Parts: sequence; structure tokens; C-alpha cells
Amino acid sequence: MPQKWRSRPRHGKGPAGGPAKRTQEKSSRAQDLTKTIAELARNKQLKRAIATFHKFEEEGLQPSVYTFSSLINAYVRAADVPGALEVMSAMKRHGIKPNVSIFTILLKGYSQEGKMNAARALLDEMIAQGVAPDARAVNAFFRGCLYHGDVPLASDVFSKMESSWQLVPDSISLRYVVQLLSQGLRVSAIKELMKKLQKANPLTEHGGGKTMGRQACKFWASGTCTKGVNCKFHHDLEASPESQERMQQEKVAAMAAMNLSMAHAAAMLGRWPLCRRALKCAEDFYESTEEGGQGGVGSHGLFQELSREEASREIQRISHFLNQEQPPEPYSFLCRTFLFGTEPCTEKAELAQCCVDELVRSFGLGEVLLRVGLSEEDARTSFRLCLSKKLRLRGSQIFAPELHGKRKIESDPPLPMKMEICSGNGDWVIAQAKADEGLANWMALELRHDRVHQIFSRMVFRKACNLCLLRGDAGRVVPAHVQPESMSHVFINFPEPPHFSGDETAESKSELLTGSFFSQLHTILQQDGKLTILSDNWRYVRRLVRTLAELRDENEQMFLSAGPRNAKNAELCETLYGIDLFCGMPDKHVGHKKKTTSYFDRLWTKGQHLDRYYFMVQKA
Ligand SMILES: C[S@@+](CC[C@H](N)C(=O)[O-])C[C@H]1O[C@@H](n2cnc3c(N)ncnc32)[C@H](O)[C@@H]1O
Repeated sequence: MPQKWRSRPRHGKGPAGGPAKRTQEKSSRAQDLTKTIAELARNKQLKRAIATFHKFEEEGLQPSVYTFSSLINAYVRAADVPGALEVMSAMKRHGIKPNVSIFTILLKGYSQEGKMNAARALLDEMIAQGVAPDARAVNAFFRGCLYHGDVPLASDVFSKMESSWQLVPDSISLRYVVQLLSQGLRVSAIKELMKKLQKANPLTEHGGGKTMGRQACKFWASGTCTKGVNCKFHHDLEASPESQERMQQEKVAAMAAMNLSMAHAAAMLGRWPLCRRALKCAEDFYESTEEGGQGGVGSHGLFQELSREEASREIQRISHFLNQEQPPEPYSFLCRTFLFGTEPCTEKAELAQCCVDELVRSFGLGEVLLRVGLSEEDARTSFRLCLSKKLRLRGSQIFAPELHGKRKIESDPPLPMKMEICSGNGDWVIAQAKADEGLANWMALELRHDRVHQIFSRMVFRKACNLCLLRGDAGRVVPAHVQPESMSHVFINFPEPPHFSGDETAESKSELLTGSFFSQLHTILQQDGKLTILSDNWRYVRRLVRTLAELRDENEQMFLSAGPRNAKNAELCETLYGIDLFCGMPDKHVGHKKKTTSYFDRLWTKGQHLDRYYFMVQKA
């Protein structure tokens, strides 16, 4: 119950009537409304959350810090950070100070939008306002760095945690930072952090001197203390053997994840003995937890199980590459990786410079250049050649066979170009590109930096030379950098609905698959070019069909159904607005040449979302 209301003195005759009863009624009404806002925030229903908030004023109720934090969360979940900041200002005008959870929600908001400098400034603002960041807050920041590939900012905050904020990095912080360092090929820095974790004793370290005397932690004994090493209160080791065991398990699991990251970086650099050692450590851990594992119930348990399975797949993938012992050649693949930033560039040279800077900052291009004896200028030249004057990607250059510094123009007629948008970790697009070698070239476009790195890693390990990677918001990258009429087929697998239930009323400023985005796809498709969409979400897929069917250019329909009626693995379930919608797994007739599962396919299958729906349309 919010303190403000609880601490108000009771007047009058008590609950039977009078002011005390009215105060109690008001308090419980305010709590109910706050709960409603929190629920609407979870479902991304911003307008309804705002309308509910207005009831406070209408009914003369006092919003609490929880009411404001729920409303701020509603704005952030609808990808409206400026709106969230306005609520925070209003809250301050009400005389309520923002707490660490409100700052954490805002940090998440900035992280989602890739505004990592603003997130960094917010951490300083917290401190200036006397709110100490906790592990959840910094981990929200590190997650943002991981999603957007900001190694320098993560390193800066990591170094400040202990020295300035007396905050001990927990296993989650360490995992995030090591993953980032691994992407940047910073093997020595990873080694240092691993040593640090090895030495750390999670049972006896308590917040670098912040401990509040010997006052006991209320949550420790029941095993529900979530502060870990940063808890300010005393953890009585005798009182909770379960908590002790859990913290040890977390440490061992973090070590295994860090070893996997180390193995990956070592493989990328061809440092086979280091890779082998790290892989063995990770393997030993995942084998020992395979049966029964770390447990967990419900969706959390399923998620843990999937994480273990994915880690085992990762071990196999690295082992396979390791056993070949062929020198990795990341340079040519880095030259096909375009990490577009959030700020638009206007000049070719400027964009080439940005691409190189980003690769140096977060994909270890500097280290790779040293190994192949090339300079950053060579890399910039290569990127400049791949861009047209209008900053569009030139397939003829990107996929030219000679990549070291200079590129040749292909003399043969260009191969068809295909593209997957929202590629996730790239399992699907790599399989398709490999099946299309010599037949088509592919582009994979993904927003999250860490996922682009996962695709990059698959591209290097599988030597997928007919694939190029684009990092960025498809809503910006497609119109700015993809040549009009260049694509023969575009694919989107398991797009994220604005709200996961596919609720029609959910709002998000970051929703990608709108009418205007489909118009952009229409522009980049060749005549008769195809678009195939696969989803597990029946309501959402119907909404997409409708959006596409209603798109008009001077009264002409822009997309038409492309069947196919001969689909073998699926049955036609509906023809909606003239577009055939199928239930089942897509096959080669809709461009899925190679049968394979993607990460989200496996995730939904685990959660018993077994139905799959798809449709294919073509440019009219
Ligand atoms: C549900 S996942 C599906 C990933 C993959 N297709 C699969 O099947 O595993 C959706 C992906 O879309 C990416 N995404 C979301 N919005 C995007 C945008 N505006 N531009 C590019 N990618 C986006 C997300 O980062 C995420 O990886």
C-alpha cells in the first residue's frame, strides 16, 4: 500500500462511516486505479492508461509514486520516452521524488530506443538527485549497450560501478559485459573479468562497504532476496542454505556463459587452444545441468530449458567450426556488415566512416585489420564502393568476389536478391542463403546489435558469402539504403505484434508492419516480386493481411495474393480480402527453400504455440 495514504491519521468514527471511511474508500479506489494502470501498461494500452490516470483528478484522488511509475511504464512500453519524461516532470510538480524503479524504467526506455548517451546521462542524473543506482538499474543499462553494441559506454559504467557507486557487478552484469567484450574480440579483458568472478565469493561480499551494520535481511531467509551481493543487509549464511546454493549456482552458470563468450571470441580469432579450453568448461557445466537442471516452473522453467538447449546448440556450432581448424576470415564478412546508426548520414564518405567506426567499436574490426595487414582506410574504401551516391546498397559491389580493399564488378548478369527482415539470430536466413549459393544473394536486416552479431558469427562459421547484414530499424534502413525495385523476394518470419496477444487495441510507436512500411517494401520489390510472412499469431497475421489488402496506389491494389494453392505442408484456411492465408509450415513454393527452425519458432513451440500461419503476396 502506498505510504502516503497508509500514514495518514485516521479521523472520525472509524470504518462505520464519516471521514475515516471516506479516506479508506478513496485510498482503496486509488490503489485499484493504480493496479489498472499497471495492467494496461503491461498490455501496451497507453491511451486507456492515460484515461485511467485522469480519473485521479476527476475523483479528487492523490496519485502515489506507484501510480506515476505505472504510467511512466505505460509510456515506455508504448515506445514513447518523451511522454514518460513529461509524466516524471508532472510527478515532481506533485512533490513526489522519482525512485530507483522509475529511473530503471526510463533507462529501459532509452535502451529500447538506442539512446545510450541519454541513458548514460540519466545514470548521472540519478546520482545527482541522491538516488543510488542498484544492480537492476545498471543491468538495464548494460542490456541496452548489448542491444546497441556500445562497448565503450558499458566499459565506462562498469569501471564506475565499484569505484564510484560502491556497487558490486553481479553475475548478470558480468555476463552482459563479457558478451559485449566477446563481440569486440577483447580476449584479454574477458580473461581479467573471469578471474575477478572466479575470486569473488558471492556469499560473503556485501555491497563494498555499504552494509547497514548487522541488521538482518528480511528476504534472505525465505530465499527471496533479489539484491544478491549488493544487499545492504546482513545475510545469515546459516539461515538459508537454499539461498547459498542458488547464489553459487548463479556464479557457476555465469562462469559457463562467460566461457562460451570467450570460446566464441577465440574461435573468431583462430586461437584454437584457448577456444578449446573455454568450450570444454562451458560444455562441462551444460552437461552437468542437462538432466533436472536448475529447475524452475511454468514459463520461467520453459525459458531456462530453452536457454540450456540454445547454449548446447551454440557449443555444437563452435565445436564444429573448431574441428575444421580452417582459419576464420572475418574481414571479408565484416565488409558485408553495415551497422547503420540512429543518426542519418548525408554523404557517402560520412556513412562509410560511420560503418567502419561502428565495426571497430563493437565487432573488433581493429584487431582483424591488424591480422590481415590492412588499414581502416582500406575498409572505408571498401564501404564507399558498396554505396551509391544516394547511399543505397550496391549489390554488384557487395557480392563481388574480390573484397580485400578493392572490389570488382561482376561481369555475369546479377543474381536475384532476397531479403529477410527481422532476422533474429539468423538461423533461418543462413540456411536459406546456403541453399541459394550461386543462385541468389541475400540480405538480413535486424534491429538488435547482439542479434546482428549472432548472424555475423553464423555467416563467418558457415562461410555464407552470398549474404550481407544490415543493422538498424527496418523502417529507416529500407527507404534510405535499399535500391528501389531490387528485391525479388522479401521474407518476414515471426514479426513482433505491437502486443504479444495481437490485441488490436495495443499501441506502440515502434510498430513496424504498418501500411506505410508495406508501401516501402512495394518500392524495393521488383515487378512481381514476392513478400512472404510467417507467424504463430492468428489474430496478428489476419491484421497484416488486411493492412496489405487495403493498400492502394491511385486506387490500384498494391499487393495481390500469390497463393500458392499447391502448398504441400499446409492447408488453405481462409481467403481474406482476396489473399490466401495458410495454416502449416511454409515450403519452397513460398520461398522457404530449406526447411529449418528459427529461434523464435523453437521458443513458441516450447510454449505450445504450435500453429503456424503464412501467406505470400506479390507486387501488383
Ligand atoms: C520475434 S523476433 C523473430 C526473429 C526471427 N525472425 C526468428 O524467427 O527467430 C522479431 C525480430 O524482429 C526484430 N525487430 C523488431 N523491430 C524491428 C525493426 N523495426 N527493424 C528491424 N528488426 C526489428 C527484433 O529485434 C527481433 O529480433
